Amino acid sequence: MKISGTGSVLPKKIVTNDMLSEFLDTSDEWIYPRTGVRSRHVISDERLEDMAIEASKKALADAGINASDLDYIICSNVVNEYITPQLSCIIQGGIGATCPCIDINCACAGFIYALQIAESFYRSGFVKNVLIVSAEEPTRMTDWTDRRTCVLFGDGAGAAVLTPGDNIKGFSMSAASATDKLYQIRTLQPTPYITKEEKDVPLQMKGQDVFKFAVKASSSDITKLLKNNSLEASDVDYILLHQANKRIINTIREFLDQPMEKFPVNIEDHGNSSSSCCPILLDECNRKGLFKEGDKVVLCAFGAGFVSGAVLLEW
Ligand code: ACO
Repeated sequence: MKISGTGSVLPKKIVTNDMLSEFLDTSDEWIYPRTGVRSRHVISDERLEDMAIEASKKALADAGINASDLDYIICSNVVNEYITPQLSCIIQGGIGATCPCIDINCACAGFIYALQIAESFYRSGFVKNVLIVSAEEPTRMTDWTDRRTCVLFGDGAGAAVLTPGDNIKGFSMSAASATDKLYQIRTLQPTPYITKEEKDVPLQMKGQDVFKFAVKASSSDITKLLKNNSLEASDVDYILLHQANKRIINTIREFLDQPMEKFPVNIEDHGNSSSSCCPILLDECNRKGLFKEGDKVVLCAFGAGFVSGAVLLEW
């Protein structure tokens, strides 16, 4: 398969660090040096499914194919207003497709996992055109009185259209269950029979543990990916890392010993939009014309679970 089109949509509301410091005990002086974030796009009156539909339409237009030509839709999403139906089914109707569709929740690594699932669909020969869309609203997961978490996130949707080709060169994936490091719990409807204690818990994060896992997992995923493809880091033209923290990006870059120009970033004015980070950044690079045909591009992400993954593309 190959990526033939990309699209993305951000909410219109921009929240700066200074705006956060109006109601939180925080400041741009604290947030920016530690995270690399100055502002983020936050959902206000938008619906996530509408943003996902719009991003998908842009990716279809970029690829030059119609929604009716799609054979599968994979939607990566952690949380949205619907428990059911699945977001991919809402997107299917919104873009006018009729193909089967599936949602996955692999936290911030969801776009990479979706690509690997799509790759297996191509290998089994039953698809020609696939839409992957990551749609995330992590700003609805955090407690907005908790300065340790809410300052990190932004919302958005990013999509990619896949068509037949040979541009995906390999994956390296990993998972290491650590459910106390990064989690959110929501209560379900009560029944007359529930006797256990249940409560809503907004996103909880052990920041330094996440930081260490992120660096270790992404460095290891990329190292294995390069080794499996007989490449050195210097052979790769661009590495698009999950936009969780500029210091995490820099630490992985130093480990790989590669120049900053190889690491496109948008964290400064986007924040962390979970699994949407990778396809939004990919779309921005694509629309800027950054990639030349034949460029080797690595996408790499980590997320709650913990899960992580990297993919090597030839543009
Ligand atoms: N403004 C001001 N002070 C703050 C803020 C803030 N926004 N956040 C935390 N602090 C304070 C804390 O309260 C604490 O103060 P205290 O010592 O008086 O209690 C102090 O700063 C240090 O807090 P730490 O949590 O130890 O700060 P740390 O240096 O670890 O930085 C950070 C926190 C930026 C979150 C860092 O740990 C990090 O980036 N970790 C990775 C997080 C990440 O990537 N998350 C991804 C989320 S989901 C995903 O994409 C997988």
